[in-house]
Amino acid sequence: MDETQAVRGDIVENRAVAPGHFQMSIRLPGSFPTPVPGQFVMVRSADHEEPLLARPFSVYGFQRRRGETAVDLLYRTAGRGTALLSRLEPGARLVVLGPLGRGFAPPEGMKKVILLAGGVGVAPLVFLLRSGRLAGTNACTCYVGARTGEQLTGLELLRGADLHVCTDDGSRAFCGQVTDLLRRDIGGYDPPETMIYACGPSPMIRTLGRLLGDRPIRCQVSLEERMACGLGACLGCAVAVRGESGRKEYRRVCKDGPVFDLREILFASPGGAEEGQQNG
Ligand SMILES: Cc1cc2nc3c(=O)[nH]c(=O)nc-3n(C[C@H](O)[C@H](O)[C@H](O)COP(=O)(O)OP(=O)(O)OC[C@H]3O[C@@H](n4cnc5c(N)ncnc54)[C@H](O)[C@@H]3O)c2cc1C
Ligand code: FES
Repeated sequence: MDETQAVRGDIVENRAVAPGHFQMSIRLPGSFPTPVPGQFVMVRSADHEEPLLARPFSVYGFQRRRGETAVDLLYRTAGRGTALLSRLEPGARLVVLGPLGRGFAPPEGMKKVILLAGGVGVAPLVFLLRSGRLAGTNACTCYVGARTGEQLTGLELLRGADLHVCTDDGSRAFCGQVTDLLRRDIGGYDPPETMIYACGPSPMIRTLGRLLGDRPIRCQVSLEERMACGLGACLGCAVAVRGESGRKEYRRVCKDGPVFDLREILFASPGGAEEGQQNG
C-alpha cells in the first residue's frame, strides 16, 4: 500500500517569471518528506472543484528554514489546470501529494555530468544541481533550450556550471535545440566517465536517444506523461520499455519513474514499430 499522504499547503508566492511561465512557492507541513531530485508532486486547488484531478510538477526547489517547509515549482500554462494555478494568489490553499516517484540516481564515480534541459524541463535539473548530489564529480555542463529567449527560465540558478544556451527562434544565443548543442560537443566527452541527466518534451528525449545511438554514455531521463492518480493505480501513464529479458514491457511513469535509464525506453516510431537506444 502507498503511504504517501496528501497534505494541505498554502501559496507563499506565485509570480510570472516569463510569458506563460510561473514560479510558485508552497508552504507545507513540517512532516512533508524531503524530496529526491527528479521526484514530483501532484497539486490541485483546495477551493476549486474543477479541474478535479491534480497536476504533476517536478520539484524545482525545497527548503526547511526556521521551522518552515516549502516546495518550489516552475510551471508553464499548458491548459485548464495550470491556467487556474497561475491565477491563484498568495494564501490560496492547495492539496499537495508527494514526493512521488523515483528520482535521479547519483552519478556514482562519474567525473563529468551533463544536464540537458528543454523548456520547463530545467526544473528538476536545477534541483539536482543545487541539492549537492553532484558534488563528487569534477565538472558539470548544462545545455538549456527554450522556444524563445523570453522563455528561458532558471538560468540564474545554474550559476557555477558551464552553461550553454539555445533558442528555437535564435532570439538568444545559439539558434537550434539543446540536442543540436549536445551533438556539437558530444565527441569531446569520454563515455565511461560521463553521466547525462535530461528532462524536456518527448521529442527532445527521442532525439537524444537517436543522438547517443550506440555510445555507451549513461543517461537518465525524466519523462512527462499525462497522469491521473500519480500513485500507480490507474495505469494511465504507462510507457513501453525493454524489460530485463529484452522483451517489451510497460512501466508506470508515476511509480516506476518519472526517471528512467534512456536505454530502457522504447519510443513508438511514426510507423507504429518501437525504437530504442541501442547502447548498453
Ligand atoms: C512527472 C512530471 C513532471 C512535470 N513537471 C512539470 C514542471 O515542472 N513544470 C511544468 O510546467 N510542467 C510539468 N509537467 C507537465 C504538467 O503536469 C502539465 O503541463 C499539466 O499537467 C497540464 O495540465 P493542464 O490542466 O494545464 O493542461 P491540460 O488541459 O490537461 O492539457 C493541455 C495540453 O497539455 C498537454 N499535456 C497535459 N499533460 C501533459 C504532460 N504531462 N506532458 C506533456 N503534455 C501534457 C495536453 O496534451 C494538452 O495538449 C510534468 C509532468 C509530469 C508527468
Ligand atoms: S498516473 Fe495512475 S498509474 Fe500513473
